[in-house]
Formats: sequence, C-alpha cells, structure tokens
Amino acid sequence: MHAGPTYVAASERLLLRPLARADLPEIERWFEDARIRRFYLLTEQGVDASTLERAIEWSSSDPDVAAWAIEERDGSLAGLGNWRADPLFRDIYEIEVTLGPHMPAGRGYGTEAHALVLDHLMRSRPAAKVVGRALADNFAVIALARRLGFVEEGRLRRHVRIGEERIDLVVMGILREEWERRRAFDAPRAVAVSAAAAVSDAHRPRGGENGRRAVRMVSDAVASEPTARTGCPSRDTGGGR
Ligand SMILES: CC(C)(COP(=O)(O)OP(=O)(O)OC[C@H]1O[C@@H](n2cnc3c(N)ncnc32)[C@H](O)[C@@H]1OP(=O)(O)O)[C@@H](O)C(=O)NCCC(=O)NCCS
Repeated sequence: MHAGPTYVAASERLLLRPLARADLPEIERWFEDARIRRFYLLTEQGVDASTLERAIEWSSSDPDVAAWAIEERDGSLAGLGNWRADPLFRDIYEIEVTLGPHMPAGRGYGTEAHALVLDHLMRSRPAAKVVGRALADNFAVIALARRLGFVEEGRLRRHVRIGEERIDLVVMGILREEWERRRAFDAPRAVAVSAAAAVSDAHRPRGGENGRRAVRMVSDAVASEPTARTGCPSRDTGGGR
C-alpha cells in the first residue's frame, strides 16, 4: 500500500514535506504568475522545471540546503519554501517562502507558512541566524516577517532590476536567541490553538472535500533520516526573499 508523503512539521492549517519532482509541473505554472515572478523570483522572466529539477539534485549532495512543499491539510499544494546556508558563514541561513497564487491573501497563510519553515529550520539545523530578503515594496512579507520577530538589518539599494526599474532589497534577520524568546512567549498560545484544533478535528469527517487526511509525520515513520534533503534553492529557482 502506498503510504503517501511523510511530513516533517505541521502548523494549524499547513504541513511541510520535502519538495518532489511530482510537484514541479504545478510550481512551474505558479511561476507564470506576475506577482510570483516579481516578488519571489525577482524577475519578469519565467523559471522552468529543468531549473527546479537541478535544484532538487543539488540538494541531495549538500545537507545545508533544502526545498520544501507546503501543503494544506486536504493535501493540496499551498506554497513553496527553501533554505540554504551562507557559503562563507555556514551557521547563517537564508530562507525563501512563497504561497501559490491561488491562496487567499490576508488570512494569515503567509505568516503561518513562513513560521513553519523558520521553526523547522531552527529545530533541525544549527542556525545562529536566519535571514530573508524582500523587495522593498513587498509590504505584506515585510510586515509578516516583523511579526515573526525578524528585524530589518539593512537595505541593498537599487539591487534588483525588474524591467526598467531598479528596486531596493530589504534584508531581514532573526537571531536564534530572538527566535527562542519568541517561541517561549508563543508556546502557551500554541498549546491552546492545537487543543482547539484537536477538538474541532474530532467532529470533522476524515475525507471528502476539504476533509483532513490522516497525516504521517517523520516521527511516525520508520525512516531514519529526519529531514529528507530534497530540493535546493538557487538564485534562479526562487530568490524572492
Ligand atoms: C507575501 C505573502 C507571503 C503574504 O501572504 P498572506 O497570506 O497575505 O500574509 P498574511 O495574511 O499572513 O500577513 C500579511 C500581513 O501583511 C500586511 N499587509 C498586507 N499588505 C500590506 C501593505 N500594503 N502594507 C503594510 N502591510 C501589509 C497584512 O496586514 C498582514 O499583517 P497583519 O496580519 O499584522 O495585519 C503572499 O502574498 C505571497 O506569497 N505572495 C507571493 C510572492 C511573495 O511575495 N513571496 C514572498 C517573497 S519575499
């Protein structure tokens, strides 16, 4: 029997699993979206599946890079995330996260997706600091990063050329100790949320439209590798933050 994907982390509405080749056709379609190109890929040009495929291969030879698929609880693809260690300062990681263009804006999915990738990175890698880069006019991602505890570290002036425009890139960062303080602060709220989710799940049908499926987490799996390292971000596979 096919066991389905194994997840490495979960939040209230989202699940995290390694990016797979089977995800690429859908993600390639996302990359046709003008907003994804501008704010995530930082280019007006598209990125095709062969680039993403190379990225997946690259990650298999480097433990400090990973690419993730972010799923909704009904198994549909909600977003894409990745991280990589800085080539010089190996305990500094950069993360990039995007939602698919079909996801509703302003309902907290972006914050939840970023928190899911950030928390899993902090828990699974020895990161002293995590940074993200965003176009200066990407107000939503800058706002949500602040809410997660990132602070603006600097600004690369007129760093990105998109068409005829040259746009600043804002660098946001969070130190491990800042993340830990925040986690301690958020923990009682998270317990309350998961207890509420468990209660509502008890009354939720297990199949059908929007039904939650039983999910297999890494801790449930026999597999000994805690974070399957598929996917590897590169500048041209998604550099938007
Ligand atoms: C950016 C993105 C992650 C936001 O997702 P989302 O689900 O709308 O985000 P959330 O609802 O969790 O939070 C958005 C926050 O931005 C704020 N915001 C939105 N537009 C804003 C604006 N113009 N100015 C200031 N704040 C703004 C919202 O008020 C909200 O903050 P709040 O909850 O404190 O009120 C999502 O639109 C996305 O993935 N876009 C695709 C490309 C992209 O930008 N990826 C990130 C690359 S760096």
